[in-house]
Amino acid sequence: MFEAYKGASVLVTGGAGFIGSHLTDRLIELGAKVVVLDDLSTGKRENLSQHEGNPNFAFAHGNANDWPTLDRVFDTHKPDYVFHLGAFCGVKRVEERPLDVLKDIDGIRAIFEFCKDRKVKKILYSSSSEVYGEPISLPTHEHGPINVSPRDPYSLVKMLGENLTHHYYEQYGLKTVALRFFNVYGPRQESSPYGFVVGIFLDRALKGEPLHIFGDGSATRDFVFYKDNVNTILTAMLKDTTDGQTINVGKGIPTTIQELAERVAAVSGKDLKIEYLPVRKMEIKYRTPDVQRMHELIGTKAETTLEEGLRETYEYMKNKHGAA
Ligand SMILES: NC(=O)c1ccc[n+]([C@@H]2O[C@H](COP(=O)([O-])OP(=O)(O)OC[C@H]3O[C@@H](n4cnc5c(N)ncnc54)[C@H](O)[C@@H]3O)[C@@H](O)[C@H]2O)c1
Repeated sequence: MFEAYKGASVLVTGGAGFIGSHLTDRLIELGAKVVVLDDLSTGKRENLSQHEGNPNFAFAHGNANDWPTLDRVFDTHKPDYVFHLGAFCGVKRVEERPLDVLKDIDGIRAIFEFCKDRKVKKILYSSSSEVYGEPISLPTHEHGPINVSPRDPYSLVKMLGENLTHHYYEQYGLKTVALRFFNVYGPRQESSPYGFVVGIFLDRALKGEPLHIFGDGSATRDFVFYKDNVNTILTAMLKDTTDGQTINVGKGIPTTIQELAERVAAVSGKDLKIEYLPVRKMEIKYRTPDVQRMHELIGTKAETTLEEGLRETYEYMKNKHGAA
């Protein structure tokens, strides 16, 4: 299935981040020549330290929203495939600096233009479940109604990326695909308060601190382990059935935040307190994707159970930060 990556030149923007670094690991394993473009705003060089000195790996420290930087990267590496993952993200960060998200529009525009002009074989754009806003119906289907008001700039920027994914395919025949990720989690995910709920819970569990739930715990998320997510990304890029499409990438199984907190406590083996805080302004309450198109067009399934994924992530964090 993945033979096409062998010897191919691949650009991963945001490749020093959580999902991007795991994607880079797999691409290198598959024999691709990978260049990571990352400004290290949330990503870390250490996520890629295993590839230092590998002739099939290059790191370009720079801003994916900057036209001359992209020009240099495209000129030097002539990518066959482009995974555009670099983005300003995280609920708390977006809440504090909403206008900074808009800078990503420059990068999205530039990357689609470069891909068109430099004859890239295909570009994959990482969108988000945030585009649905508070869902009008559940599970959310890609072609169902979207609740656009009131939403934060992050979801609007992701919508623009999806729009260009479609436009460049229809207008210029550039092969594209946009994937709407739901809650991806696993090792290397940011676990500071600016990060995502699984990492934050596991970090607090390691320290024996209470788990903080915003709201009453009845909000739901669809948790996808990073290995399943990366497998779907790699497959979606190579399937013609995904050309010009926007596709949900999830498990299709809603988990309440209350249940997540209880599972995290169980995995840690500690008697952790759960505390309830006011709901955050931009927080969406319910998220469950309809994953039929993912199964049909990409042919993958997110199979790792939440239990397995949490255990693996907790073990990783324990080894990294020292056992508590
Ligand atoms: N993790 C999730 O659950 C989730 C859900 C929905 C969508 N996404 C999307 O998936 C992508 C990857 O997310 P992640 O969870 O790995 O986050 P992350 O913060 O770990 O990774 C993002 C990476 O992009 C880099 N970056 C940010 N802006 C950049 C810029 N202008 N130029 C170059 N590099 C830049 C960061 O330094 C970081 O390495 C993002 O586009 C995000 O919006 C993630």
